[in-house]
Amino acid sequence: MKNPSVISFLIILLSAATICTHGNEPVKDTAGNPLNTREQYFIQPVKTESKNGGGLVPAAITVLPFCPLGITQTLLPYQPGLPVSFVLALGVGSTVMTSSAVNIEFKSNIWPFCKEFSKFWEVDDSSSAPKEPSILIGGKMGDRNSSFKIEKAGEGARANVYKLTTFYGTVGAIPGVWLSAPQLIITKDTAKTLLVKFKKVDDATTATSNLYFPG
Ligand SMILES: *[C@@H]1O[C@H](CO)[C@@H](O)[C@H](O)[C@H]1NC(C)=O
Repeated sequence: MKNPSVISFLIILLSAATICTHGNEPVKDTAGNPLNTREQYFIQPVKTESKNGGGLVPAAITVLPFCPLGITQTLLPYQPGLPVSFVLALGVGSTVMTSSAVNIEFKSNIWPFCKEFSKFWEVDDSSSAPKEPSILIGGKMGDRNSSFKIEKAGEGARANVYKLTTFYGTVGAIPGVWLSAPQLIITKDTAKTLLVKFKKVDDATTATSNLYFPG
């Protein structure tokens, strides 16, 4: 390492690494552990004064056509939701960082409807999509509309609270078709931003009832 050019090259390399990781940190689950692509998690909206439901589940968001499904918060407070796993777009490492581009996939062996669609989340960016487009099930890894990022949304006691963002805007919730259960959409209105936490699926917990009908 006597060669000064090697040393300066290393210094440049190290400072580049510092710049790249600045502001990025592992996303934490409710127990404070980093989110890992090998685990499954329930995505649970953080309670607001008015809403006190359970976790997120795939659900029909229109009566016709029934497919593709959207995503809704179950109104049942004790339902943890349906587990998801995260896939890192670049496929490197297994820790999900706050800057990572991730795909989100529902995990379930029981999936009776809309089987022709994948279980990946995607933003409806079709020409017929409303101004606040729905999050749908049927995404594809590598597609721009299926890419999500997890960003910190809280400090202190709410340190493990996050929001989800996309190329189209932030993930929010509006009253959906089933008993006004909150339905996931993309919004630019911060009042509608959906705050979530990630609860690791520890055991053989299965949450299959109320899969499609949040009420
Ligand atoms: C997502 O993007 C892909 C590729 O552009 C497109 O084929 C698909 O229709 C889009 N999905 C939605 C729901 O807009």
